[in-house]
Amino acid sequence: MSQMKKDCGYAAADLVKDSQVLGLGTGSTTLYFIEKVGMRVRDEGIEVMGVPTSFQSRLLARKWNIPLTDLSEHEIDLAVDGADEIDPDFNLIKGGGAAHTLEKIVDYSAKELVIIADESKLVDVLGAFPLPIEIIPASLNPVTKALEDMGGKVEVRMGQAKDGPVITDNGNFILDIAFGQIDNPIPMEDELNTIPGVVENGLFTEMVDKVIIGSKDGVKYL
Ligand code: 5RP
Repeated sequence: MSQMKKDCGYAAADLVKDSQVLGLGTGSTTLYFIEKVGMRVRDEGIEVMGVPTSFQSRLLARKWNIPLTDLSEHEIDLAVDGADEIDPDFNLIKGGGAAHTLEKIVDYSAKELVIIADESKLVDVLGAFPLPIEIIPASLNPVTKALEDMGGKVEVRMGQAKDGPVITDNGNFILDIAFGQIDNPIPMEDELNTIPGVVENGLFTEMVDKVIIGSKDGVKYL
């Protein structure tokens, strides 16, 4: 699995051109993208800047001496990000790493968005992976009720090696919602964000330009 993640992450890094501003996604796949961009900075002397989507990608970029910037300073030429599920229309579920709010801001604003993932992330219909939703902590009860009224089974994401709920990089909670099959992700993405207290949901629709899949048979460009 990690070889497939590495293959697609490295393939995406080979698309990077000198002088580009890069959106740096979060997760165990984008880790390899950032690593290879760092190697190209070191070995080829390419000059790029990164806009991190999390503390994880910020720390990785620093480790690899990739200069950082933000959306108040630069527009993003190319964002590269991972996904938890990818449907045939390139709609996504993201947020397995609780970073989807900043990821969506960065990915949406990029001139080009490339998604990298191992082949296990390709699905016919979204929804087997519970949908992550970042919420303001004080809104937990009313948001839970609203999501249950929409047919969701709601779990507060709990920390690993941390007591109590996961706290996002933005100081919020994550709810993981089992809706079952998500047949209409485009209107659902908008509808979920109308619930007061919801900061951002993990549906990413109509924004992906290219998908690079790491598979047992090598890298596939979709
Ligand atoms: C983080 C994300 C990740 O991109 C997504 O969870 C995929 O992660 P991985 O590459 O580790 O499978 O959305 O919030």
